[in-house]
Amino acid sequence: MKIYITKDYDELSRKAALIIQAQILQKPESVLGLATGSSPLGIYGFLTGWAQSGDLDFSQVRTVNLDEYYGLSGDDSQSYRRFMQTNLFSKVNIKPENTYIPNGLEKDDIQECARYEKLIYSLGGIDLQLLGIGNNGHIGFNEPSDEFTAETHKQPLTQSTIDANKRFFAREEDVPRFAYTMGIGTIMRSKKILLIASGKTKAEAVKLMISGPITPRNPASVLRLHGDVVVIADAEAGALLK
Ligand code: F6R
Repeated sequence: MKIYITKDYDELSRKAALIIQAQILQKPESVLGLATGSSPLGIYGFLTGWAQSGDLDFSQVRTVNLDEYYGLSGDDSQSYRRFMQTNLFSKVNIKPENTYIPNGLEKDDIQECARYEKLIYSLGGIDLQLLGIGNNGHIGFNEPSDEFTAETHKQPLTQSTIDANKRFFAREEDVPRFAYTMGIGTIMRSKKILLIASGKTKAEAVKLMISGPITPRNPASVLRLHGDVVVIADAEAGALLK
C-alpha cells in the first residue's frame, strides 16, 4: 500500500486525477471503477478540465460505478447515475453506452447483482477502481459486518451511513435504506485501487484501515491484502497516521 498525505483537498484531488489520467493514457480503453459522494468531486473537476482542453480522451473509456441506491431511478436527483451524469459523464467525451451503474429500479436483487457481476467480467475486469471511505470504514456500500460479502449485493445501510448521507436529501426519511453495491471480492479483483480520504471525520477510519486488524468489522482494512493500492489522504484525514 502506497500512502500519500497531501496538504489539502485540492492537492489530493490533483494527485488522484493524475493517476487516473496516466491510466487512461497507458490504456485508452481502460475500465475505470468509479465512486460518488463528496470526496471525488475535485478529481472529476480536474478530469473534466483536462478533457475539455484536449489533454484527456474518454472516447474509449468504459466505467462501472461502485453502487446505486435501491429504489431510485437513474433520473432521480439523488441517484448515483444522475450524480455521475452531472459531475463527469455530461462534461467529457465518454460514450453513454460505455457507462455502467447498477439499476436501482430492478426489484429482483438476485438477478440485478448477477447481471452486474457478469457485466464487469465481460468487460475484462476493472483496471483502476476509485474508492472513498465511509466514517465507519465502509468501501462502496460494504458496511461493517461479521463477514465480507464477495459479490455485488443488496446492502442494508447502517444508521451511520444514513446520517452521513442525509445531507444530500431534503429529509432523513428520504434516504434509501438499501443500496446495490459491488462486493469486497468485486473490488479486490480490480487490478489497481486508488482510495481517497478527505477531512477530519475520516481520520479514525484511515488509521484503522492502515493499522487496525484486518476484519469485516472494518471493511477498508481488507485493502491491505491487495497488491496495488494507493491511498491519498489530505492532512486532516491523515492526521492520526504516524
Ligand atoms: C460512493 C461510495 C461510498 C463513499 C463513502 C464516502 O459511491 O461508494 O463508499 O465513497 O461513503 O463518501 P463521501 O466521499 O461523501 O464522504
